[in-house]
Amino acid sequence: MEKPEALPHISSLILYEGGKPIEELQRELGLKEVIKLASNENPLGTSPRVAQFFKENDFNSALYPDGSGYYLKNKLAVKYKIKPENILLGNGSNEIINFIGQCYLESGTEGLFSDKAFIAYRMSVEAVRAQCVVAETADGFSHSLENFKKCISNKTKVIFIANPNNPTGNLLDKEELLQFIHEVPKHILIVLDEAYYEYNNEELYINSVQEAVSRTNLLVLRTFSKIYGLAGYRLGYAIANSEIIKALNHVREPFNISSPGLKAAEIALDDEEFIDKSRKNNTEGKKYLEEEFIKSHIEYIPTFGNFFLVNVGNGIEVTKKLEAMGIIVRPMAGYGFKEHIRVTIGTPQENKTFIKALNQVYKK
Ligand SMILES: Cc1ncc(COP(=O)(O)O)c(C=O)c1O
Repeated sequence: MEKPEALPHISSLILYEGGKPIEELQRELGLKEVIKLASNENPLGTSPRVAQFFKENDFNSALYPDGSGYYLKNKLAVKYKIKPENILLGNGSNEIINFIGQCYLESGTEGLFSDKAFIAYRMSVEAVRAQCVVAETADGFSHSLENFKKCISNKTKVIFIANPNNPTGNLLDKEELLQFIHEVPKHILIVLDEAYYEYNNEELYINSVQEAVSRTNLLVLRTFSKIYGLAGYRLGYAIANSEIIKALNHVREPFNISSPGLKAAEIALDDEEFIDKSRKNNTEGKKYLEEEFIKSHIEYIPTFGNFFLVNVGNGIEVTKKLEAMGIIVRPMAGYGFKEHIRVTIGTPQENKTFIKALNQVYKK
């Protein structure tokens, strides 16, 4: 029978497997209490000011949102001392990663990323039938800028680098990164994905925003999904030279961010107290989990994110056992880490529950 056929390459594209939703595990196993430490969300929720605003205000849901994101872009521009035309808003920074593929890559060109990189880069490159080129890590875990350089060819159009990286949690040396950015040929777009930026002291980073607006080939990605606790609203942004932002705007659908999402982000951006509290929770949780991993002789990668990559012998098996106990983590076989799980740093109670369960299901 005749039927519409998707393009042949479509069925070979990898499917993104996200963290299992709490409701799904509750349905599957009939569990009441479930904690999710699988998607690097903020365990403290979001700014209480956001909840308060939505309690007191209503949206006219019949109207389209402000497609230009005027107020949020202006707020971001003031925060970073840049211009609104240097900013693009995305339905999550993930959407912007896809825009980059659509604007800068096509068949016959190459997108370059690390072999242990966030999977969305591969998806963006493959979706437009460009070639994925993978730079080996230095030690199985950390990005090697030397290896990135070796992989640059005359077909390279985009380089994706997450810093800190997901799922390994490593951070690049800032001097080396800056040198790399200066050395990469100017016709190649460097995408510096800083989704976990706010969890660390600014001194650990290059001044990426200033570099991005003053150069012609650097784009910085940030998100409201992590420390701001707004993953459910889907909101990320890019900062770059206005020419790059203009190009990306051509493939953006006009109303890609919802009205509540825009408002929530504006409010969350101002709540320094909540950001500090979230950072503190993460720093303390990181210390607690590291101490417990060491006590139990469990191998882990020191992290600069809100998660740990942990060697538990068999990631899929341990994930299943933890799920049976009402704890959702992420197996990492899809990233080539068959022995590992990735666990998000939770609240103090969630961290304790996780460690207790892990010690029951895995002994080194
Ligand atoms: C490195 C990195 N970049 C981007 C994202 C996507 O974030 P979002 O689309 O929610 O903004 C994530 C999410 O986990 C991430 O880890």
